[in-house]
Amino acid sequence: MTKVVCPGSFDPVTNGHLDIVNRASRLFDEVVVAVLVNESKTGLFTVEERLDLLDRATEHLPNVSTASFTGLLVDFCTTHGVDAIVKGLRAVTDFDYELQMAQMNGSLTEVDTLFIPTTPEYSFLASSLVKEVAKHGGDVSALVPDFVDAELKAKYA
Ligand code: PNS
Repeated sequence: MTKVVCPGSFDPVTNGHLDIVNRASRLFDEVVVAVLVNESKTGLFTVEERLDLLDRATEHLPNVSTASFTGLLVDFCTTHGVDAIVKGLRAVTDFDYELQMAQMNGSLTEVDTLFIPTTPEYSFLASSLVKEVAKHGGDVSALVPDFVDAELKAKYA
């Protein structure tokens, strides 16, 4: 049984995140999508709201579950018996920081990080940009699930 974690802020989940989670669910026995609880940063969505949106977006994937975590990702991996961290790579600009985090996490507990290249149609996609566009009334319906689009509209109404 190989159990992996897809960690992130997911404020909110986008089709880019779901591309990675879907593909991870085909490659590994168990996938945990873990939302970071960042006490020093208030998001648009609460952690509970983010988890609810993730649950709805992954309900068709029986081997995917969701969780939240505080503190270090490597501690979450140890506590939950996670074998590897799975991250999406959108572009080479992601690589420097992702490599640094992967090596730091590997040095702390020897947990491996595996990178999945993002599908090109989502290579520009980031939650921050989705929020920026939605905030100003732009159409993000092709970039997030329908119910996330609806929640964004409600937040910015
Ligand atoms: O979606 P994001 O904001 O890019 O996700 C970043 C995340 C949550 C994966 C990263 O910040 C993280 O793992 N934070 C937990 C704290 C931690 O372990 N820091 C050391 C990383 S080397």
